[in-house]
Amino acid sequence: MSNPSILILPGDGIGPEVMAEVRKVITWFGDKRDIQFDVSEDLVGGAAYDAHGTPLHDDTMAKAQAVDAVLLGAVGGPKYDVLDFSVKPERGLLRLRKEMDLFSNLRPAQCFDALADFSSLKKDVVAGLDIMIVRELTSGIYFGEPRGIIEEGNERVGINTQRYTESEIERVARSAFELAMRRDKKLCSMEKANVMESGILWREVVTEVSKDYPEVELSHMYADAGAMQLCRWPKQFDVIVTDNLFGDLLSDAAAMLTGSLGMLPSASLGAPMDNGRPKAMYEPVHGSAPDIAGEGKANPIACILSFAMALRYSFDLGDEATRLESAINTVLEKGVRTADLLGEEGVTPVSTSGMGDAIIVALDESL
Ligand code: NAD
Ligand code: IPM
Ligand code: MN
Repeated sequence: MSNPSILILPGDGIGPEVMAEVRKVITWFGDKRDIQFDVSEDLVGGAAYDAHGTPLHDDTMAKAQAVDAVLLGAVGGPKYDVLDFSVKPERGLLRLRKEMDLFSNLRPAQCFDALADFSSLKKDVVAGLDIMIVRELTSGIYFGEPRGIIEEGNERVGINTQRYTESEIERVARSAFELAMRRDKKLCSMEKANVMESGILWREVVTEVSKDYPEVELSHMYADAGAMQLCRWPKQFDVIVTDNLFGDLLSDAAAMLTGSLGMLPSASLGAPMDNGRPKAMYEPVHGSAPDIAGEGKANPIACILSFAMALRYSFDLGDEATRLESAINTVLEKGVRTADLLGEEGVTPVSTSGMGDAIIVALDESL
């Protein structure tokens, strides 16, 4: 049988920098655990635009459809701000999500003990935190029609449409209930049913799906109140399910509970393929961080944790995923820190590649 296949799309800014560290980890699993992957690499975002005049070449799209998992770094940057909307780097990422139909975006926010002091919230608020945000990723206001900028009278109007079908809500709700069943059996659904019809439908459909999961305790919250509760007492949550835009905002907020945006991984999952595994793309939640790109300051942990999610969700290697997460924990316990996590006494500042090397040492120690 051939090895499982991975397509790496490093992208822009710090994307290639953090992906180089993931490469080290993939090589380590091949050399030390005899877990081999067929790895290929291609362009996405601004890098693809520079080469082909499009943020995602059709050939790259076809490759992404054919592999077992895609790993993506980040896209975007100020250099591309002037481009027409249709060829902006972000369009490449959105096309991948849409055409691969990756409707369920898992964004875990876990606070590593060693970082509990670093969060901008009090230590007892975040210590031991382990929540999972399930963000709908292929519909809602990101994709709804009509959209555009039109002339109306003597001025322009910007239009986007929030739109959800019952089946779109149902499938993401189901994925969240399934996750809740494997965790603490608590699910909080967030929308704004007080002001949006799509929110009313969202609440109705999620409630309907809950009948298939009687063991899961379901609650509903308006998304604005949810944002407040995430900062006030995040440990009240286990799994949160929400729409595309609210999920984007809430997951960035949740990232800061863990200390840095450089710590938060994600898995974007679709329907099962012939082999029973979901179609999948793994990407850190952070962007291309143009303010620190090229300086060796980026924290590669979010991207490496995204690979750990790939081991777990695409390759049935949950034990190896745990090994990798434990190695990261060990490194943080030793006080090894990239620039985004400095500020405490007694920590050792390292570069992006220094962090990758420290994780490899901890992986060796795990054998
Ligand atoms: P960003 O996530 O790139 O950066 C926000 C802040 O967090 C910056 O100060 C940055 O230095 C810091 N940061 C982010 N990741 C870090 C890491 N790994 N280590 C250390 N610090 C880190 O968000 P932004 O500045 O709003 O967006 C920049 C560009 O990235 C934009 O073009 C945006 O569209 C794009 N973006 C892409 C993705 C993606 O590819 N998935 C996600 C978000 C933003
Ligand atoms: C994210 C990003 C993307 C989004 C952008 C870059 C398209 O912010 O993955 O969170 O808005 O979904
Ligand atoms: Mn975002």
